[in-house]
Parts: sequence; C-alpha cells; structure tokens
Amino acid sequence: MADLKILGISGSLRKGSFNTAALKTCLELLPAGMTMSIARIDDIPLFNQDVFDAGMPEPVKRFRAEVAAADGLLIASPEYNFSITAPLKNAIDWASRPPNQVFQDKPIAIFSATVGPLGGPRNQYDLRRILTQLWGHVMPRPEVFIGAANTKFDANGKLTDETTRKFLADLVTGFKPWIERMRVATPA
Ligand SMILES: Cc1cc2nc3c(=O)[nH]c(=O)nc-3n(C[C@H](O)[C@H](O)[C@H](O)COP(=O)(O)O)c2cc1C
Repeated sequence: MADLKILGISGSLRKGSFNTAALKTCLELLPAGMTMSIARIDDIPLFNQDVFDAGMPEPVKRFRAEVAAADGLLIASPEYNFSITAPLKNAIDWASRPPNQVFQDKPIAIFSATVGPLGGPRNQYDLRRILTQLWGHVMPRPEVFIGAANTKFDANGKLTDETTRKFLADLVTGFKPWIERMRVATPA
C-alpha cells in the first residue's frame, strides 16, 4: 500500500516558530507508512472575494491542491489572543471556497505550542470548530498542548523536552489509524 501523505501546516509565519519547529520534529516521529511535507502559507494574500472572483492567485491554487492531495493534515499553531492566528484562518478561508471544498472528509490532527503555560487550548477548540463545520474529521485525542515552549526547544529549534517528544509521537502514531478509519467511514 502507498504511504499516507501528510501535509503539515504551521499557523505561525515566524522563522523561529516553536510550532514550525515542533512540526519538523514530527518528521522524525512519523510511523512507517506515512510521509509528510510542510506547506507554506506566508505568500497567500488576504482573502478578498473580488480577487477570488477575478481568479485564484497562484499561492492559493498551490495550497488548495496540496490540501486536496493530502491523505491527512497535521496542523500546528500558536494561540493569538485566545484564538487561531490570522494567517491560518486566512489560508483556511481561501481553501474553503467552492468549487471544491478541500477540507471535506479530510482527516486532521492538531496541536499547539505557546510560550504561555496552557499551550493554546482556546486556539485548538476554535480551530476544531472551524474545521468540523467544513466537514473535516478532526481527531479527538490525544490532545497535545505544548506550554512554556520557549523552555522546550534549543536555539536551533531542536525539541529538547522528552515528554513533549513522546506526546507528539503518540499524536502522529494515533493519526495513522484515524486516517484509515475515516476512509472506511467516508468511501470515495
Ligand atoms: C498577536 C499575538 C497574540 C498572542 N496571544 C497569545 C494567547 O492568547 N495565548 C498564548 O498562550 N500566547 C499568546 N501569544 C504568545 C505566543 O504563544 C508566542 O508568541 C508563541 O511563541 C507563538 O508561536 P510561534 O513560536 O510558533 O511563533 C501571542 C502572540 C502574539 C504575537
């Protein structure tokens, strides 16, 4: 059977992002039979219906095609003002428009990292609500909240906290059977 293709999406555009670093750590933790590439969303313009109507910009077309082609999405995002980040919401808004709504029946796993102690729960619950109403299949558990992220990575973005590494390993390991279950639940 072909490997399951995962698209990683970070909700932070920051070069030194802890979320992007954690996503890259997941590349090392994927179980056999899964591969992952990481999307870029920093070149997607702000959503504007007039621009959409005139023709989707290339970065939007690329992102939508990547989401559509993926067997599953792994989204890592910080919390901004108790909710999801603007770049991530913008990318989701672009990708959610007709003709093909690319989150439909898509298996999705999410986690978050923040420098605050809680690790971004309000962001995760808002993200879950947004994706669920788009008929995405968001994996219920395990929930992974990386609080105090600034103490868990070294200056090169290497995850040094073994407990967090184990949580991420459990998340990506559990994602594989979730994708397989959702495929059975929603045959093509
Ligand atoms: C606009 C803005 C709002 C933020 N709001 C929150 C928040 O509500 N909760 C929280 O835990 N951290 C908040 N933070 C701090 C982030 O957790 C911190 O900047 C984190 O490092 C961002 O993730 P990144 O390292 O992946 O870029 C906020 C940061 C910014 C820039």
